[in-house]
Amino acid sequence: MNTDFLTLRDVGVTFADTGDEVLANIDLAIPAGAFVAVVGRSGVGKSTLLRVIGGLLRPTTGAVRLQDADPADSTAPIGIVFQRDNLMPWRTVAENVALPLELNGAGEKGVKGERGRNLSSGLVTEALEMVGLAGQEESYPAQLSGGMAQRVAIARALVHRPALLLLDEPFGALDALTRERMAQELLGIWQAHPVTVLMVTHSISEAVLLADEVLVMNGRPGRISERIEIDLPRPRTMGIEATAAFQGYAAAVRQAIQTDEAPAS
Ligand SMILES: Nc1ncnc2c1ncn2[C@@H]1O[C@H](COP(=O)(O)OP(=O)(O)O)[C@@H](O)[C@H]1O
Ligand SMILES: [Mg+2]
Repeated sequence: MNTDFLTLRDVGVTFADTGDEVLANIDLAIPAGAFVAVVGRSGVGKSTLLRVIGGLLRPTTGAVRLQDADPADSTAPIGIVFQRDNLMPWRTVAENVALPLELNGAGEKGVKGERGRNLSSGLVTEALEMVGLAGQEESYPAQLSGGMAQRVAIARALVHRPALLLLDEPFGALDALTRERMAQELLGIWQAHPVTVLMVTHSISEAVLLADEVLVMNGRPGRISERIEIDLPRPRTMGIEATAAFQGYAAAVRQAIQTDEAPAS
């Protein structure tokens, strides 16, 4: 595996307006195709880390490289899903999913007119099929359940075939059962398609169920205090949560988060 897919070197973030140092000394190397979970208490800097990796926020110190480029300039497409679906209510499901293609000009530049439209509608249909929403193209967000709306957001993030998928507590607003089902579906998508996933979650069991590696963040400024490799066999189905090995990992992650209740060093 190529460990140079995504690297962070001594990344730190200080917000100029508040003078608040939020992240410090983040060093990371994530190989292509990995599924990495990020956990840590609220306010530790998880979302900020994801925004830096996604090229939405420039780090104050250090550097992020995605396939040897600045993520903001990288040619590797990045898909991002936030906790709330952020769908545009006046657009249909298909029009929402097509948004990244429009922003990239995929449907217009190069292949103009009818052919461009057909090309992008094919990609939209495929993305909706990936999340189990084929046939919902003409629905509007208000007609969807929370789980369906979040699936549309995932389809939108996948539509331009990203090399990197960033998920910020994507299932945080869903009920427990929907959440479990979505986690399994996400595993299915990741297994069927070559994509590297970095997912922030506040659910320890979700992190252990999904990830190859769990990054634990602690402190203020936030740092990665521990990296816990999850050496459980795949495919992982729900029954795995009852095993001693799974519970051992969950306990280790929980403890790694709590360790920091002591004053930060
Ligand atoms: N744009 C911003 N300007 C100033 N402070 C911010 C900004 N975004 C986040 N913060 C602060 O950075 C800290 C970490 O926030 P965040 O990354 O959202 O944490 P988490 O996602 O782990 O809950 C918080 O104290 C938050 O208030
Ligand atoms: Mg957050």
